[in-house]
Amino acid sequence: MKLAIIGYGNVGRALVRLLRQKRREFPFTITGIHTLRHGTAVDAGGLSESVTDAADFGVRAASVEEFLEASRAQVAVELTTLNPSTGEPAAAHIRAAIARRMHVVTANKGPVAHSYAALRDEAACAGVDFRFESSVMDGAPVFNLWRHTMPGVKVLGFTGVLNSTSKVVIEAMEQGESFDAGLAKARSLGITESDGAYDVQGWDSAAKTAALANVLMDARTTPQQVTTRGITRLTPERVMEIARAGKTVRLVSRGRRTSGGISLRVRAEVLERHDILSCTPGTSNLILFHTDLMGTFGTVSIEPGVEQTAYGVFSDLVSLR
Ligand SMILES: NC(=O)c1ccc[n+]([C@@H]2O[C@H](COP(=O)([O-])OP(=O)(O)OC[C@H]3O[C@@H](n4cnc5c(N)ncnc54)[C@H](OP(=O)(O)O)[C@@H]3O)[C@@H](O)[C@H]2O)c1
Repeated sequence: MKLAIIGYGNVGRALVRLLRQKRREFPFTITGIHTLRHGTAVDAGGLSESVTDAADFGVRAASVEEFLEASRAQVAVELTTLNPSTGEPAAAHIRAAIARRMHVVTANKGPVAHSYAALRDEAACAGVDFRFESSVMDGAPVFNLWRHTMPGVKVLGFTGVLNSTSKVVIEAMEQGESFDAGLAKARSLGITESDGAYDVQGWDSAAKTAALANVLMDARTTPQQVTTRGITRLTPERVMEIARAGKTVRLVSRGRRTSGGISLRVRAEVLERHDILSCTPGTSNLILFHTDLMGTFGTVSIEPGVEQTAYGVFSDLVSLR
C-alpha cells in the first residue's frame, strides 16, 4: 500500500522508523511527505531512505490536494499539529483525502473532537476507512478495543488520565522542580503538543474527552463544550504540600450520560496515592470505561513514548480493509 504522509514531525519520523523495522512482514511504500515549513517530497514509485531521513524536502506543494494527487497513494496519514479550537486544517486534509477515495489514518485528535460524525459518514459514503487509534492513548487500544471486542455494550461514561505532559510536570514539581522545568522535561521526551500550553491548560485533554464522547457515546460535541480547568494554577509548594499529605494531583477527564445529556469535564483532581487513577508512573495513561454489560474495565499504557504513538498509527494501517 502506498502512503502519503501529511505532517512529518515526532510521530511521522517515528512511524517511518517502525515501518522500516517491520517492512518484511508489512511492506508499505511512502510516496509523499508534505510539511508546513520543510517542503514536500513526492515520488509515486516510492521515496528513498535518504529522502525520508532528510531534514528538509523540495518545494512545498501549492495545496494538500495537489500533494495527494501527485502521491498516487491509497492512504493519507494525517500527522499535523493539533488545533484544539477548530480541528483544522487537519479536518480539511482528511476531507481532501476522502474525496479522492483514500483511506485516512490520523493521530490528530482535533478532527475527531470536532467533526467525527461528519467525517465518519463521508468516509463511509466514499467506501474508505477513517481510523484514529493513536489520537487518545497512543498505541494502547481504545477505539479498536471497542470496535473489535465489545459487541452490544453501551458506554455509560469514562474516566481517564490522558495527558502525559501534565503528569510529567506534576511529578517534577513533587521533586521540587519548577513548573517550567517539568514542561521542558516533557518537551524533551517529544510528547508535548507543539504549543505546550494546550497540555497544561487542559486543551489536549478536552480534545481527547470530546473525541471519546463523539466516538463511544455519539455525543456530537466539541472541546469547547467540555468544562475544562488545567494544571496552570498549581505551584511546586502546593504540589509538595499535597504530596506530604500522601496525595497527588492528576488531570482527569470524565464523561457520563445524565438525564440531561452527556456531561464532560477535565479537572486537576487531588487523589489518594493508591487511587487507580494516580498510581501509574511518568508518562503513563489510563482509561476506565463504565458500561451497561461489562461494568467498569479499562486500558493502561505504562510509560508510552512517541514510538507507541507510531504503533497506534501502524495498528490502523495494517488493519485497513
Ligand atoms: N507526539 C506524541 O507523543 C503524540 C501522541 C499522540 C498524538 N499525537 C498527535 O500527532 C500529531 C503530530 O504530533 P507530532 O508530535 O509529530 O507533531 P510535530 O512534531 O509538531 O510535527 C507536526 C508536523 O506537522 C506539520 N504541519 C503542521 N501544519 C501543517 C500543514 N498545514 N500542512 C502540512 N504540514 C503541517 C509540521 O510541519 P513543519 O515540520 O514544517 O513544521 C510538522 O512536520 C499531533 O496532532 C499530535 O496531537 C502526538
